Amino acid sequence: MYNSKVIGVGKYLPEQVVTNFDLMKMMETSDEWIKERTGIVERRFAGEGETTSLMGAEASKEALKMAGLQPEDVDFIIFATLSPDYYFPGSGCPMQTHLGLTGIGALDIRNQCSGFVYGMATADQFIKTGMYQTILLVGAEVHSRGLNLSTEGRDVAVIFGDGAGAVVLTATEDENKGVLTSHLHADGRHVEKLWLENPGSASNPYVSKEMIDNGSVYPYMNGRYVFKHAVTKFPEVIHEALQKTGYSTDDVDMVIPHQANERITEAVQQRLGLPREKVFRNIHKYGNTTAASIPIALSECVEDGRIKQDSLVCLASFGSGFTWASSLIRW
Ligand code: COA
Repeated sequence: MYNSKVIGVGKYLPEQVVTNFDLMKMMETSDEWIKERTGIVERRFAGEGETTSLMGAEASKEALKMAGLQPEDVDFIIFATLSPDYYFPGSGCPMQTHLGLTGIGALDIRNQCSGFVYGMATADQFIKTGMYQTILLVGAEVHSRGLNLSTEGRDVAVIFGDGAGAVVLTATEDENKGVLTSHLHADGRHVEKLWLENPGSASNPYVSKEMIDNGSVYPYMNGRYVFKHAVTKFPEVIHEALQKTGYSTDDVDMVIPHQANERITEAVQQRLGLPREKVFRNIHKYGNTTAASIPIALSECVEDGRIKQDSLVCLASFGSGFTWASSLIRW
């Protein structure tokens, strides 16, 4: 059995910065409301031609460069997104083209804000069994084109941003390194609390003018309901990973929670009893980038030295489904 070690991280953020003040020109909202409720100051919106797969490819190039590898060295692609270029095929296929690759498998996974952690667990299992040696794991989102940027959609629209992150995982025989444990959960009873209902095959017809008129083509979120579950599930799934491996919160060098909302992160930090500097946040800069938020965070932490050789890092997520997950990694 092998362990899966992260040997490269990368990120890509579109150039276009959209501040809370920019949003105030599109809808009735305020910088104060957004900052106080979410911690977000600005986010990025993809420009013309910037697709989920293209941004994923750019983040991947950075991750491959750090790993000292070429695209041809990758054995398998896992692509996590809720905003694929197309309903089908998944974004892993067009991303291959952007990277000049053909032939290797490309698996898209749909686990929303937990997509990257689900992807980490999936990659780890493929590596553990020896089926693949080197896997490119990507999280990327273009939310901006699917949001209702008018006052009607403001409760959801102010939260989300675009971006991409990627990691390269490779097999190691060192059992103390890499992904030590992963824990994946879902509870489908909460599907309708955070979802994009239409267009979808559960509706007949699949798409209609009525759906556009009634707003069901835009994401819906019951914010308070999501908040209540998130602040419970994040600490629970982090403790699960620690218990499994025999570590305590004191042993962890950095917790990287999915950047859902500053208030959620704050509550999680308090419930874990950790100092602020051990619980990563960058939501003020990028908003909630769903599957991309954890790999973007990893990339920033590695860049500025907050994560280094031997750091014990805990990834944790919560999101639509509901889904929640954790992964404990010895860097
Ligand atoms: N700007 C200004 N006012 C807004 C607004 C916006 N962008 N969005 C909603 N409001 C208004 C509402 O219309 C409501 O007005 P009313 O009192 O006149 O009816 C008021 O603000 C309060 O709305 P409410 O939804 O009760 O606010 P809240 O305190 O629950 O905060 C969230 C809303 C979304 C910030 C909060 O519920 C939250 O953080 N939820 C978690 C969401 C999250 O992190 N999701 C990501 C999960 S992966």
